[in-house]
Amino acid sequence: MSAAVMGSLGRRWCTERGRILQLQHYRRNALLREQLGLSDMKNGILLESHRSYLAVLCTELSKPLVIRNVLSSLLQPCEVRVGVRCCGLNFADILACQGLYQEKHSPPFTPGMEFSGIVLETSASVDTLKEGDRVVGMTGSKALAEEYVADHRMLWKIPEDVSYEEAAALPVSYGTAILALQQRARTQPGETVLVTAAAGATGLATVDVAANVLQAKVIAAAGSDSKCSLTLQKGAFQTVNYSGASLKEEVKKLTANRGVNVVIETIGGNIFKEALHSLTWEGRIVVVGFAGGMIPSIPANLLLLKNVSVLGLYRSRYQHQDFPVFAATLASALQYCQKGWIRPHIGAVFKLEEVNEAFSYVTQRKSTGKVIISVQ
Ligand SMILES: NC(=O)c1ccc[n+]([C@@H]2O[C@H](COP(=O)([O-])OP(=O)(O)OC[C@H]3O[C@@H](n4cnc5c(N)ncnc54)[C@H](OP(=O)(O)O)[C@@H]3O)[C@@H](O)[C@H]2O)c1
Repeated sequence: MSAAVMGSLGRRWCTERGRILQLQHYRRNALLREQLGLSDMKNGILLESHRSYLAVLCTELSKPLVIRNVLSSLLQPCEVRVGVRCCGLNFADILACQGLYQEKHSPPFTPGMEFSGIVLETSASVDTLKEGDRVVGMTGSKALAEEYVADHRMLWKIPEDVSYEEAAALPVSYGTAILALQQRARTQPGETVLVTAAAGATGLATVDVAANVLQAKVIAAAGSDSKCSLTLQKGAFQTVNYSGASLKEEVKKLTANRGVNVVIETIGGNIFKEALHSLTWEGRIVVVGFAGGMIPSIPANLLLLKNVSVLGLYRSRYQHQDFPVFAATLASALQYCQKGWIRPHIGAVFKLEEVNEAFSYVTQRKSTGKVIISVQ
């Protein structure tokens, strides 16, 4: 317990009866701490609510995650308590738990960047949501838990015919796909778009938006024939299995040497280099991620010779730099989903207690589309 909290408690209990009450309070705290398996209480306020919920915790980087009871906090102005139903698992969660993500979290912390659920409680200042509303939200961490307290501006209502699983698959992957294709590459109808790791979460969302919203011609590149087939079902026009062939040579053949207008690239390393070579005149390549673990360097002469552009995308940076654009991505994804233009592919669903299996499933490249952690 902090000195400040001790000090304020001291002032409250300055009489003899107060000292007895204080002792009872400490004993109750110690008992609750023991019951919950916690080594320390956050502060006195948390104890007064006496509510707890299960949360995934990364207690040490690169070690298996654990599930613990943690104490609920009281709502602050603008906040909403959500009972989480589904949490989307992202490659970034895995990197964060290995200490390799650009946004660093110090253990112990709870991963989880996107979730859907039901509103349990709102603070008095919130009038846009009420108890029982179905919502989807995004955050930097903490969503892999039974409960999440969000700022109401980071929550969106889920349309009636969109399920909790589908909603939880939208914020990160579809948000990234929309920003990459529309905000960064300015993709036009009829243009050719090459998507790498096209059966992954970001990749398949990109195929879906490019083919079914933007009416682009999609060449989907993935690491196996079955992954390629899945992208065709999602709307890809042609595919390349780059596990046994040169991406650059295959794209040349498929485009009669013309190349593609846009590349959305999530792997890095040699795949990025081959994709860069696959651009046509005034083509654009968007750097989205390095799932293969290698950050490529870019030969600037190639950009000059072909009049091509390399663009970066860091989705979550938009939250602070340009909130209207950031917020519009999820609003658009929900609208596209409600209209039936897009449909997230849920590749696998794991229970909260199977979170370590879910992480392994993604790192072993077994996953397709979005992996969901079902919380309740
Ligand atoms: N910039 C942003 O704002 C942003 C947003 C979302 C995601 N990302 C990044 O985009 C990348 C993909 O994320 P995701 O959530 O779509 O991941 P995902 O669903 O796990 O897909 C990643 C895919 O990459 C391919 N891959 C190639 N080499 C790999 C390797 N060594 N290890 C693992 N996978 C490998 C695999 O497909 P094949 O087997 O078909 O090759 C795998 O399915 C990550 O680097 C992530 O951090 C960035």
